[in-house]
Amino acid sequence: MVSKGPLLRLLTAINRRRMKLLMGLAFVAYVVSVWGNFVNMRSLQENGDQKVESRIEEAVAPLREKIKDLEKSFTQKYPPVKFLSEKDRKRILITGGAGFVGSHLTDKLMMDGHEVTVVDNFFTGRKRNVEHWIGHENFELINHDVVEPLYIEVDQIYHLASPASPPNYMYNPIKTLKTNTIGTLNMLGLAKRVGARLLLASTSEVYGDPEVHPQNEDYWGHVNPIGPRACYDEGKRVAETMCYAYMKQEGVEVRVARIFNTFGPRMHMNDGRVVSNFILQALQGEPLTVYGPGTQTRAFQYVSDLVNGLVALMNSNVSSPVNLGNPEEHTILEFAQLIKKLVGSGSEIQFLSEAQDDPQKRKPDIRKAKLLLGWEPVVSLFVQIVQLNAKVCEEMGHRRFENWNFLLSSGQADKKLNVLEKEFRFLSGFELSFKVERGVIALENRLQRAKQGFD
Ligand SMILES: NC(=O)c1ccc[n+]([C@@H]2O[C@H](COP(=O)([O-])OP(=O)(O)OC[C@H]3O[C@@H](n4cnc5c(N)ncnc54)[C@H](O)[C@@H]3O)[C@@H](O)[C@H]2O)c1
Repeated sequence: MVSKGPLLRLLTAINRRRMKLLMGLAFVAYVVSVWGNFVNMRSLQENGDQKVESRIEEAVAPLREKIKDLEKSFTQKYPPVKFLSEKDRKRILITGGAGFVGSHLTDKLMMDGHEVTVVDNFFTGRKRNVEHWIGHENFELINHDVVEPLYIEVDQIYHLASPASPPNYMYNPIKTLKTNTIGTLNMLGLAKRVGARLLLASTSEVYGDPEVHPQNEDYWGHVNPIGPRACYDEGKRVAETMCYAYMKQEGVEVRVARIFNTFGPRMHMNDGRVVSNFILQALQGEPLTVYGPGTQTRAFQYVSDLVNGLVALMNSNVSSPVNLGNPEEHTILEFAQLIKKLVGSGSEIQFLSEAQDDPQKRKPDIRKAKLLLGWEPVVSLFVQIVQLNAKVCEEMGHRRFENWNFLLSSGQADKKLNVLEKEFRFLSGFELSFKVERGVIALENRLQRAKQGFD
């Protein structure tokens, strides 16, 4: 018989070992499960993190793109600007600088390296005309009406603020008068305060319906003071008077440019000016509307010529009025025929009754500008119309713009221009004074610039 004592001890020893083994196993199982949970939680967390990250990425990606776009617009390429030393760099104010002529003048003065402030109330001007300068350190755009006084420091003032086309200046004749009178007084007051030189953008309309032909600066004019155009014509006449009163009484340096009809890119296409009207009508296949018999004459200059003339006059010592215009004179009917031909349009020419106080003849005598400023227009009428036509087509998304581009890129433009010139000479029976080669080069430059978005 086995005594109970050793047996019990044996059993207890075995149980203890089992217990230890079991406890060991339980501990290992516990450690494994804790580790497993830990790994699981980590992978869950990692998954979660990835999801959150991808959501953040989704939300941030468009913002990142926007920032890139903004950066691009901040580091936008401006047209090339010359460097001018402190001594030569001027602070220049252009009133009406967001308009047709003013925006081209802004381009010229900015590219020459000056500091330009444009003041405009955007009645007929557009921010778009000067937007390629916004953000440039030499450029400032102020939304301001010249009928209110302005307090800034400048060396030169080009005073262009005023509606220029008949529908625009007749729209609110009282405002036109205020802009040309109170607005001019305000700018002369500013010139006096800061010792700046002021150039007034006057007009050939001061000659009214002229009795002398061509008009030179000594002619006093033939204006109807109570007609529908009087708010503009008389407004400009009194603006000239104000300039010379400030010059005599206060010693303000003034320059007066009598500007004749001008056209080019950025002019308002629908404001009733004859050339743009004809181009639009021809492109749309509508009748070309001629008021009266079409024998009244006009002479047009291209805007780049005018801008060069304005700058030359401002920097000259000529304080008396100077005509700036192109003396190449044509009848309205000739313009209609040329544009019809150029656009290749089947439109008819329609004669309507004559407009009131429409001047019968308009041609500048530019001998004074030639002699004293060494200035004369260089862009011929034919090229002006081709260029404007290209621009209108481009703005309208018209196929014919592509055609001109194609002709230029394939070197066929010369041929086409020559043919058109011959046809037109034959058609109208008068001499066109232009050089085709020079015209093509100018046109190529213009199209290049248009492509770069500067025009
Ligand atoms: N384009 C021409 O054929 C021509 C001919 C003769 C004279 N001019 C003169 O040249 C100047 C410019 O003419 P444009 O053809 O560029 O005309 P536009 O209408 O394109 O430009 C005139 C500018 O003056 C601004 N303006 C008008 N009233 C203003 C006011 N009260 N305060 C501030 N800004 C104001 C307009 O918003 C516009 O930007 C005008 O003074 C015009 O009389 C032009």
